[in-house]
Amino acid sequence: MLVHAIPTNTTYEFAADVRAGLTRPGQKELPSKYFYDDVGSALFEVISHLPEYGLTRADERLLRRYSNEIVDRVVGPVAVAELGSGSGKKTRWLLEALCRRQRTLYYPVEISPSALAMCERELGNIDSISIVGFEREYLQGLLEVAAYRQSGQRLFVLFLGSTIGNFDRPAGVKFLCEVRRILEPGDSLLLGTDLEKPSAQLLPAYDDELGVTAAFNLNLLARINRELDADFDLNQFAHVAQINHHARSVEMHLRSMRKQIVSIPAAEIVVEFQEGETIWTESSHKYSAEEIVVTAACAGFRCETQWIDEQWPFAENLLIVE
Ligand code: AVJ
Repeated sequence: MLVHAIPTNTTYEFAADVRAGLTRPGQKELPSKYFYDDVGSALFEVISHLPEYGLTRADERLLRRYSNEIVDRVVGPVAVAELGSGSGKKTRWLLEALCRRQRTLYYPVEISPSALAMCERELGNIDSISIVGFEREYLQGLLEVAAYRQSGQRLFVLFLGSTIGNFDRPAGVKFLCEVRRILEPGDSLLLGTDLEKPSAQLLPAYDDELGVTAAFNLNLLARINRELDADFDLNQFAHVAQINHHARSVEMHLRSMRKQIVSIPAAEIVVEFQEGETIWTESSHKYSAEEIVVTAACAGFRCETQWIDEQWPFAENLLIVE
């Protein structure tokens, strides 16, 4: 696989984002995209196998069951761009269905180099596939993929796993508008969205018995220690998952167990935490199937079909650029 990698000014950006998030007045926060270093990507892979976390299995069930139907609705010669491919495991079903019909170009766009490498190992053996990986942020990667487009070729963009749920609702619409602007009429976007479900089903998915999600969350502090020379004591922070009923999301936080001071030399800050104070690390928004249709329309897409898993409410939404 060919990989277009970034020039690494990334530590500098990481330091700047950590500094901004931990020095802001009021609620401290860290961007959830920083979960996914090599350790975090591996931990997420484990989360996707946990009995409590049905999301990835629902996504995969739908893709496996309906790959032919989905691909039938995407007409003409296409190149596939996947935003946040991760290991690429569940993408196999779609790509195999496509490759049975035509030679297929697949462009995974992924910020984690180890996930990109895994993606190629996982999918590189499909017949009639060519893979070109982009180690990029979503929109930057998609722009570059679009620049490779040959005339008459359509783009089929995959944004699976309900990753869109990490945006709050207004930011989600804005993101879809930005994707739309890069695309052309007739192109399509397959959007995976986790649907609203009872708290009793939702909360354990983000606070599993084994503590893998806690480790995934705490790894953010461990990563700051590793990459920015900080001295977070991981034993003095606890994983918290809670439902935000107003936002219709699950929030993850890291709660300081006592008053403490942490220094982060590479971000040139010293941060004080009160006992019980939290760092907000992630929100996972949950949707109704109807709201996806409306949201897609706001962003310039027509929702062609929705496939819904009943066992773990989750929807694959096929959106066509108007
Ligand atoms: C990969 C963003 C979809 O929000 O459910 C899993 C990440 N966080 N457990 C999600 C996650 C905690 C996941 N997404």
